[in-house]
Amino acid sequence: MKRLILGFLLLFSAGALASEGGELMFHAEYDLHDKASLQRGARLFVNYCMGCHGAKVMRFSHVARDLGIPEKVVVKNLNFTGKKVGDLMITSMRPEDGKTWFGAPPPDLSVIARARGADWLASYLRTFYLDPKRPTGVNNLTFKDVAMPHVMWELQGWQRAVYSEDGKHIEGLELARPGKMDEEEYAAAVNDLVGFLVYLGEPAKLVRFSMGWKVLLFLVLFTWVAWLLKKEYWRDVH
Ligand code: HEC
Repeated sequence: MKRLILGFLLLFSAGALASEGGELMFHAEYDLHDKASLQRGARLFVNYCMGCHGAKVMRFSHVARDLGIPEKVVVKNLNFTGKKVGDLMITSMRPEDGKTWFGAPPPDLSVIARARGADWLASYLRTFYLDPKRPTGVNNLTFKDVAMPHVMWELQGWQRAVYSEDGKHIEGLELARPGKMDEEEYAAAVNDLVGFLVYLGEPAKLVRFSMGWKVLLFLVLFTWVAWLLKKEYWRDVH
């Protein structure tokens, strides 16, 4: 028995280590019940990510239905991408072009939240910093030498690295030029976007949530009925 428990503990800690894979700077806070937050995340995704990345397992109409976005609004927002509401969320960029332009093709983001984890994504989207040695002019503390430019610079602004005294390690990041949002607003925007990416990776989670409540309610009602029945039967016995 003891060995079994030990085995479990080891498994758990190994899992925790594997999922961390180094230090993550930020923790993602999102709530899959919060439709308004998921809607904001969807808007950021369409505006800032879909130029290069797709989510090819998902249809715009599906997102609209799940997140309670009226189709009219979806159609209006999609007009500039030339897409239709029933279309799959495929990026307009061809993978070959992505490879030529950036040196690495932007991957499909359908299941990125499951592959990388929400905290990793939040950290990634918040740790771009200026690095003149990189072709894009930026580097990233979470994904070293990444080929992706800092696409949300307009919102976050530009960060620069703060080096240790010997100049060897980066100790943190500081804002070099502010964007439209302050740090808190940008963190909230990233959380919205990460929430949306988590939903994309497992849209069934939303359905499961609402199912979950129904199942619980059923169990409670059922227990109550069973209890009433038991009382009824035992009345004759006593
Ligand atoms: C201008 C094109 C472009 C845009 C816009 C863009 N990306 Fe990227 N992204 C890339 C490229 C290129 C890579 C591949 C980087 C590499 O492998 O070095 C990448 C990689 C990524 C990765 C890492 C994938 C992995 O390998 O695990 C994530 C996550 C990501 N992008 C998220 C986003 C999000 C979220 C947005 C919107 C806020 C976005 N990207 C917008 C070009 C883009």
